[in-house]
Amino acid sequence: MTSSIATARTVKDLRAQVAKWRQAGETVALVPTMGALHAGHLSLIGIAKSRGKRVVASIFVNPAQFGPKEDFKRYPRDEAGDVKKLADAGVDLVFIPSTDEMYPPGFATRVSLPSLTEDLCGAARPNHFEGVATVVTKLLLQCGPDVAVFGEKDFQQLLVIKRLVRDLNIPVEVVGAPIVREEDGLALSSRNGYLSAAERKTAPILHQVLAETAASLANGEGCDAATSAGRFKLEGKGFRVDYVAVRDPETLAPLFGPIKGSARVMCAVFLGTTRLIDNVPTAPKNR
Ligand code: PAJ
Repeated sequence: MTSSIATARTVKDLRAQVAKWRQAGETVALVPTMGALHAGHLSLIGIAKSRGKRVVASIFVNPAQFGPKEDFKRYPRDEAGDVKKLADAGVDLVFIPSTDEMYPPGFATRVSLPSLTEDLCGAARPNHFEGVATVVTKLLLQCGPDVAVFGEKDFQQLLVIKRLVRDLNIPVEVVGAPIVREEDGLALSSRNGYLSAAERKTAPILHQVLAETAASLANGEGCDAATSAGRFKLEGKGFRVDYVAVRDPETLAPLFGPIKGSARVMCAVFLGTTRLIDNVPTAPKNR
């Protein structure tokens, strides 16, 4: 049985619905997505439902966050399938703006956070985080939710969003959600569908290597040695490594030597032409 769901395609309609809920004293949680929904996205909806009386999900494949040589055109799109999944998950409203609704002629504003976005994924994807920060700022101002939920899968993105909300005094609580994985450890991603059968078999090694790197760090190995070993293992299995890094989980500052507190092991790799990202938490073992 398919549940019915309201759809807004304009900011005006979105605001009218949210205003009605607000008048009734109801709280609102927002989950921004680019569609092609999987269980990772749906876990965010579950968290949103536990945090707000009403849940809004947005679907917008944001051209501003794709580079000229990236996969904007072939990014998977399945509006009907996504709307059904959101309805079944109990979402109250899905916001599906057109590109013109989000970026009308003359659109000129950009939100950028250079100090948080110049390295890691930002180094290989110039302007990506500016595109993300701009569209997320817009979505938060368009919807005006009490809570917005984002996945730790995109760990740098989550910190960028937390920082822009703080810096711009946007009155919303940003909630981070744990990474949902396949049984073999591969983090769910709308881009996993690009992998060939052989690449799909190799892909879970990424999480295994991250887990091993996290364990050596927990055991007192230095960041440099641990990330070099991780990179070497991944390259030996056919991954092209963009970065393997150990970072402060609050500031993304690089860490050196043995870790003294909690840290995040983060990486980006290519399998064939597909870019995969993943990350795991770690902390020193009490010895
Ligand atoms: P998208 O890749 O569709 O992801 C939407 C949200 O789902 C993000 O917060 C992302 O971190 C989360 N997510 C994706 N895979 C996940 C997984 N395996 N486990 C847990 N959460 C997961 O990220 C974006 O869209 C865009 O950049 C967006 C924030 C919508 C701005 O355009």
